[in-house]
Amino acid sequence: MMENKQTQRLIVAMTGASGAAYGLRLIQRLGQAGVQQHLLISDAARVVLRQEVDIELPAADAGVAGALAEHLHIDASGLKSYALKDWFSPAASGSAGIAAMAIVPCSMGTLARIATGASDNLIERAADVILKERGRLVLMPRETPLSSIHLEHMLKLSNMGVHIIPAMPGFYHRPTSIEELVDFMVDRVMAHLGVWPEGMRRWGA
Ligand SMILES: Cc1cc2nc3c(=O)[nH]c(=O)nc-3n(C[C@H](O)[C@H](O)[C@H](O)COP(=O)(O)O)c2cc1C
Repeated sequence: MMENKQTQRLIVAMTGASGAAYGLRLIQRLGQAGVQQHLLISDAARVVLRQEVDIELPAADAGVAGALAEHLHIDASGLKSYALKDWFSPAASGSAGIAAMAIVPCSMGTLARIATGASDNLIERAADVILKERGRLVLMPRETPLSSIHLEHMLKLSNMGVHIIPAMPGFYHRPTSIEELVDFMVDRVMAHLGVWPEGMRRWGA
């Protein structure tokens, strides 16, 4: 893990696993840190956003960035959102030079398609590109219990250098709110993206 190496431009995707709050908070914190984000939201993530946090995103993908910036009170100029079949967007090609991507939360379906190289939408294609270019890919899978298939996919990706950060917050800091649990996980994701979170509590410090 590279500490204090600021990543200025990255891809953030949300997929249809439970835990939309993690993805939203990550986008907000990265926005506050001045990181430019290419946002990709799967169709299932839209359903989960509706179910878990009552957010109805605009049907047009280009409008998603503005809607989220408004909801999260961050500067919209650092956010761009793309359609999942926009193969001409920067995330679709290694020549764009984007070196890092986070998928938060990451569904088992998206995880499987990345692990097998069967990319069928821009999220999976972007992850495929990050892998082939040997960039930094951070996944937050969420499912319980985990089947052997899930575990095999995670092991395969981990062996390729992918950062697997399951949605498993600790409780040793005695959280008193859901926000603290969410931030516990988002701090870890940001650190692994190379955007060291300000104020992150370090063990033993
Ligand atoms: C409310 C809700 C919660 C879900 N939670 C999970 C979950 O925690 N993990 C998971 O892998 N899939 C979960 N799913 C199922 C995925 O959304 C589904 O497999 C979908 O096809 C994933 O598509 P995507 O990977 O393109 O986002 C959930 C679906 C809904 C509607």
